[in-house]
This record gives sequence, structure tokens and C-alpha cells, in this order.
Amino acid sequence: MQKRAKTAENIRILGIETSCDETSVALLTSSMIPPRRRTVGTSDVGRLVLKKHFISTQIPIHARYGGVVPEVAARTHVAELVTLLDKTLGWSKSKSKNQESKIGDTFDAVAVTYGPGLATALRVGIEAAKNLAWAYSKPLVPVNHLEGHMASAWLVPQNRKHWEYPILFLLVSGGHTELVLMKEFGKYKILGRTRDDAAGEAFDKTAKLLGLEYPGGPKLSKLAAQGNPKAFDLPRPMINDPSLDFSFSGLKTAVRQLVENTTYNSRKSTVASRQSGEEGRNEIAWDGRRGTMEDLCASIQAAIIDVLVGKTVKATLKAKPKAIAVVGGVSANPLLKEELKKALKKSCSGVKLLAPAKGLYTDNGAMIAAAGLWKYLEDSKGKSLHVVDAQPDLDL
Ligand code: KG4
Ligand code: ZN
Repeated sequence: MQKRAKTAENIRILGIETSCDETSVALLTSSMIPPRRRTVGTSDVGRLVLKKHFISTQIPIHARYGGVVPEVAARTHVAELVTLLDKTLGWSKSKSKNQESKIGDTFDAVAVTYGPGLATALRVGIEAAKNLAWAYSKPLVPVNHLEGHMASAWLVPQNRKHWEYPILFLLVSGGHTELVLMKEFGKYKILGRTRDDAAGEAFDKTAKLLGLEYPGGPKLSKLAAQGNPKAFDLPRPMINDPSLDFSFSGLKTAVRQLVENTTYNSRKSTVASRQSGEEGRNEIAWDGRRGTMEDLCASIQAAIIDVLVGKTVKATLKAKPKAIAVVGGVSANPLLKEELKKALKKSCSGVKLLAPAKGLYTDNGAMIAAAGLWKYLEDSKGKSLHVVDAQPDLDL
């Protein structure tokens, strides 16, 4: 790995993401040096332009099955990726062979997610990226999806002004919940991680128990906005544990028990049947408490957020980072960001909270292009095509 960062004069990175249920392609151009050193400050903020960015979600397709079906995801990626690459590179618009060959002049490297994620889904993006790299003689830059989420915060110009290492990341996605200290790009210390379910899974699985359609996380959070978070007393697993690890399976169990034992109008029934309208809009009664569906959602959300915020504060006090970034799909949750900000102001002398821009919380090609740019600047040769393969369990 080269140690010295190169000048990033007009580098253009094509980013491809197909790790789960979003197909996405981005073209990112840069004329700056990415901050890699602790001394990096505002002067390093240069021009970074997202020239093209397309995201095609498969959520409506998988909603029919109640979750992501890997084989369906892979097949859908194939069709969508061709369309999005064409929209980005303009193959179908080129009228001659000569014009077509000029497509290679529009990007300098191909960055692609190679893990973690679903093997079959990852392979669709990887194969497409290899073909492009080979056809246009460009370097292939394999990107760790988790580094992509981290780079999503760096894409925000305001955030780059506060991009000083070490940065503490609260990485909260559908499959990961980790507290990571980034000492510089590529150098990480995992301070804590979940021992079972990820925060996104806690949202999705409890939402499913309540009869909310996949992916339930955003739906649960929307209902929660109208509810009372104190209505139901739910566990906050490991909140007082000295480690920085998480565990959310106990919360899921508590919600399952609530769903199985709750009564409406003194009649035993399920929350799901009430959701479907069979029970009318009655109150949920459980463990001596009463409340609405919205109250229950708010109570679940509060339990998850309390743990995430509590552990992030603990990690901040311990690791003393220069900034904190919350990234991954769950960072879309407005209350999480609000509560984190409040807690950091109160307990951590106002250390700055960075987050991705709206629309870039969940999986996207822009973040893969951004992390690809970081990697390209360290090693502009990229990786040999034959050594790059899907790594479904890749970690940082
Ligand atoms: O990062 P992401 O798009 O995919 C993975 O890399 O896993 O994250 C998806 C996760 C899902 O679990 C989804 O329910 C959650 O992010 N999510 C939310 C919200 N929006 C997305 N969770 C809570 N509140 C939200 N508003
Ligand atoms: Zn993700």
C-alpha cells in the first residue's frame, strides 16, 4: 500500500452496488486530495461532484415474500444493472463503434462492492465491473460495503470540514451494528459490535411481529413518531454492561411475548390481526400497561435508540474521537440523530455529529464510488480481475 496520497486531479470513479436489495450505479468526479491524515482540515475540502447516480430498489419485489430472497435479488440485479449502466455510460445513445469506444474516456476506474452481502447478488455487480474494467482497460477497485457506508458521510461537503481523525463511527445497517474507530482510511479499531441481531434487524424483526410489511424499520419509525415512547416498558439489553457490545435479541423476544399475550378489549388476540383491521383500533394492553400501536412502535424505537446512544456516548468518552459519524440504513432514523446530538452535547462537550445526506443513508453506488476513490488514491493499479470474488462475510 502506498503511504503518500496522490493529488486527485479530476479522477472519475464509476461505483457499482449490488450487495442486497438495491441496484445502484454512480459516477463520481473528484479534484481533491481525500483527507487521510489527522492534520487534514478545511483547506482540503475540494470539488467532489456526483455526475450521475441511479438507485433501483427491489423492496416492492421482496415485500411479497416478507424478506429478501437471494436468488430473486440476483436475477433482478442483472436486469437493473444493465439499465442503470446504460443510463450512466450512454451505450444505447452511441451511434458508432467510435462513439462507443469513447465511453471509456468518461471514467478512470471501476469500484464495486465485493462484500459483505448476499453472494449471488454481489457476484452480479462484480462480474459487470470486471467486464467493464477489461473492456475499457481500467483498474478494478473492490470496495468493502461497510467502508462505503463510512464514505457516505464524507460525501457531504459540510462533513468534510470536520473530517479529522480519529473518527468514531456508529455503523448501523440491516446486518451490522458496530462502533468503529477510524484512525485513518483503512485503519480501524472495532470498539464494540452486536453479539446477535443488528439494530436494523431489531427494527425489521419487531416490525414484522407487529404485522408491518417488509422492510418494517422505516414503517415502525414512521408510526413511532405519533406514539408515546414511555407507554410500554421494554428491555434495553446490555445498556449497563461495561463493554461496548450490543445485543438486540432480548428486545425481540420481549416484543414477541407482548404480541402473543396482549389483549384488546379484554379479548386475547394478536397485534398482527389488529393491524389487519379485524380488531378495530383498540388499545393494546400488556404487562399492566396500555397504549396504541403507535405507542408500542415508539416504545420499541426508544429501546433501540437508548442503547445505541448510550453505547456511543460511552465509546466517545473512552476513545475521545475528533468527530462522530452515524452511517448505515438506520441512520435514516431522525430520532436517532436527534438523540445522539443531544447526548453528545450533554456528555461529550459537543463533539460534532456527522451523517450522510438524505437519500444516501441506505445502500447506494455513490458511497461505493467514494470509498473506491479513497482506495484508488492509495493504489491506482487496482486489483487483478481473477483475484476479486464475492466475500459475503467480509468485515472491516
Ligand atoms: O444499510 P442498509 O441500506 O442495508 C444494509 O447494508 O444492511 O440498511 C437497511 C436497514 C434496514 O434494516 C432498515 O429497516 C433500516 O436500515 N432502516 C431504518 C430506517 N430506514 C432504514 N431503521 C430505522 N428507521 C428508519 N427510518
Ligand atoms: Zn448497507
